[in-house]
Amino acid sequence: MIVETRSASFTRTRRTRRSGALRGLVRETRLDPSQFVYPLFVTPGVGVREPIASMPGQFRLSPDQLAAEARELRELGVRAVLLFGIPASKDPLGSGAYAQDGIAQEAVEACKQADPELAVIADVCLCEYTDHGHCGPLTATGEVDNDAALELLARTAVSLAEAGVDVVAPSDMMDGRVGAIREALDGSGFEQTPIMAYSAKYASAYYGPFREAADSAPQFGDRRGYQMDPANVREALREVAADVAEQADIVIVKPALAYLDVVRAVRESTDLPLAAYNVSGEYAMLKAAAAQGWLDEERAVLETLTGIRRAGADIVITYHAKEAARWLREA
Ligand code: PBG
Ligand code: ZN
Repeated sequence: MIVETRSASFTRTRRTRRSGALRGLVRETRLDPSQFVYPLFVTPGVGVREPIASMPGQFRLSPDQLAAEARELRELGVRAVLLFGIPASKDPLGSGAYAQDGIAQEAVEACKQADPELAVIADVCLCEYTDHGHCGPLTATGEVDNDAALELLARTAVSLAEAGVDVVAPSDMMDGRVGAIREALDGSGFEQTPIMAYSAKYASAYYGPFREAADSAPQFGDRRGYQMDPANVREALREVAADVAEQADIVIVKPALAYLDVVRAVRESTDLPLAAYNVSGEYAMLKAAAAQGWLDEERAVLETLTGIRRAGADIVITYHAKEAARWLREA
């Protein structure tokens, strides 16, 4: 009896799978370039297009290269970028992050000038700008000073808003940063600038290639004091709840692949838009295997991005954005 019921529904399922048109009709998860955010590394200079060794296909770009980038993204239907600045020089307080003529501020202006409709999101953190590589200034005993960091992060967010950024994305994981940034933005007339918070950001080995790209590896210790333990999921929900209470507008889970259960759990815990960050190490893994001919890159990338969306992410931040958009168009 049970066996019969099962085989009947199995047959029905198979029938809808058989034809191409029906397959499309019953598909549960769709990928569209409008769901992608493309990260960009921006560095001072003119005419710079420096390949990042551990991230094949990704470059450190000078601001003058951004107009061509914006054109290509528009053409592909990718409508959002996430900017990371790599300053010419670093110091203990990460002053390049909130300098009026800072590299990220300049990059924001270049992007908005190139395409005012491109959604420009800027990372807000200090680790790309501090000489010690931590996400905030240090105390006399060499710990990250949470409250001193809040003030500098808030200044960074305001300076990016003044440069015309559409969204700020704090990735530092300091306690209270979303609230501090919200208050500072509101106090400077940027009540309308949303905060996309890296709410559940794990202390992950998968950030390795990014740290090479941004030259932002901590010079001593690690980030486990402020990033999350990969073993925890309930803690992620508490972090998300805290950021929502501090008025985050979009929340991020990062990395994506080893944390798809976290993506699902966060999806079910909030109605806010949810982004998953398919990070540098995840990109490098697929690129390396594909370069060896060990897997079919197009299928593996689209399957990966579909899996992230199926887990519950509305938005996928991914270095694959351009090639995935191209493949989706060809399909
Ligand atoms: C900065 C930051 C990092 C990433 C995004 N913002 C690195 C880190 O925390 O060390 C990683 C992104 C990636 O690996 O693609 N706090
Ligand atoms: Zn950081």
